[in-house]
Amino acid sequence: MSPTFVDTGELQDGIYLSPAIPPPNGFLMLTIQIEDGTDAAAARTGVERIWGVLTDLHAGMVRDLRATKEGEEDQPIRPGTFDFLLGYGASFFDPAKSLTEAERPAQLTPLARPREPFANLPWAAGGHRGGESDLCLQLTGRDSQATSRAAVEVWKVIVDDELPLVITGSFEGFARDDGRSWIGFHDGVSNIRPSQRLAAVECQGDPGWNRGGTYLAFLRCAVDLGRWRSLSRSAQELVVGRDKLTGCALEGTAEADGELAPRAYAGCPAAPDAPPQDRDKFRDPPETGDPVVEASHIHRANQNRVEPTSHAGHRIFRQGYEYLAEIGPGGPDLGLNFVSFQRDLEHLWQILGLPSWLGGVNFGGRPDRGPGEPEPIELLSLEAAGFYAVPPREQPFPGAGLFGS
Ligand code: HEM
Repeated sequence: MSPTFVDTGELQDGIYLSPAIPPPNGFLMLTIQIEDGTDAAAARTGVERIWGVLTDLHAGMVRDLRATKEGEEDQPIRPGTFDFLLGYGASFFDPAKSLTEAERPAQLTPLARPREPFANLPWAAGGHRGGESDLCLQLTGRDSQATSRAAVEVWKVIVDDELPLVITGSFEGFARDDGRSWIGFHDGVSNIRPSQRLAAVECQGDPGWNRGGTYLAFLRCAVDLGRWRSLSRSAQELVVGRDKLTGCALEGTAEADGELAPRAYAGCPAAPDAPPQDRDKFRDPPETGDPVVEASHIHRANQNRVEPTSHAGHRIFRQGYEYLAEIGPGGPDLGLNFVSFQRDLEHLWQILGLPSWLGGVNFGGRPDRGPGEPEPIELLSLEAAGFYAVPPREQPFPGAGLFGS
């Protein structure tokens, strides 16, 4: 069976809803600030220049390698090696900046605030380290060379054209070729069914200017791999809610030697290589009635398993990329660049806020656990984070109509 194509409407490139076009391996998130005191027209010109450079580069044209002497030819590169997506952060809508008169989406609020924004996802030691700015540019490409080159071309045009823009941060990531995250489990097994993805992602028009666009959540989560590896395989599976090797969802638990052992659904095929029709059967496991399984990460993160158009479903489309910042005598500094797209940021706020969802624990498990149950592990902390509005396609660039009055 050929992989499914999904209509992506007016969404910008870089959101890979179609199984036929899987996310490429390289990821680089740039955050960009518009210099204080810049008027809307100058800011708009700056963003248009950046968009123009990336459009040319995507087509194979490099600014510095254009022919300037008679008899020379432009020196192209391979086209189509990366995609780029532009988002607008809460600060862009700050009335004091006078960049726009457009309404700020209600749920697009700053994350760097005096109190931690999420109930059970604390900032890593040292506090908030960026990820939030006026603009973000998500670069996804076939490898880190393609995304890094695009980022440096952005810097060049800012310098050469003296644009009133500053690159304030960059966050790299990659996809593992086994589809697993650092904790060893498959990631993306239960990402919404392809036919339901556009409905989960596409903003319906609140505010009206973002109709046909979407919202991006970027949460760079450090993972305490040492602590994770101190759990037995059974404990890890109970906390995630899936079998570690196959990705099959758990149906219940059984007691063995004073410990609870996970029990996967009988007949579940090995994911994610199983045929799509088999995968679908086990992708959205029904509620089990087993309180330990119901408290696992996958059940806390998706409680109702209803259609994405149902408001209470809080469905999101995840497109995360692993990272390894460094490895030294103290072990690896690694984690997941959690990226999700959703029609309304309220869904992510609720997933990370409601006590019976991920607001109740840091990753999975029951705070009031019974005998033999694994402790809810403190696994994640936030290195950086930002929420962004991602307007639909527009000429000359997405969101161009937001600038000025
Ligand atoms: C911090 C914010 C996070 C949120 C909001 C979140 C949300 C989700 C959601 C919605 C699912 C799908 C559940 C389902 O429909 O069955 C899921 C599954 C999963 N998540 Fe997370 N997650 C987060 C962080 C992480 C991190 C940092 C890791 C890894 C270290 C991780 C590992 C997994 C795994 C292994 C699965 C099961 C496989 C799969 O269904 O893709 N999650 N998560």
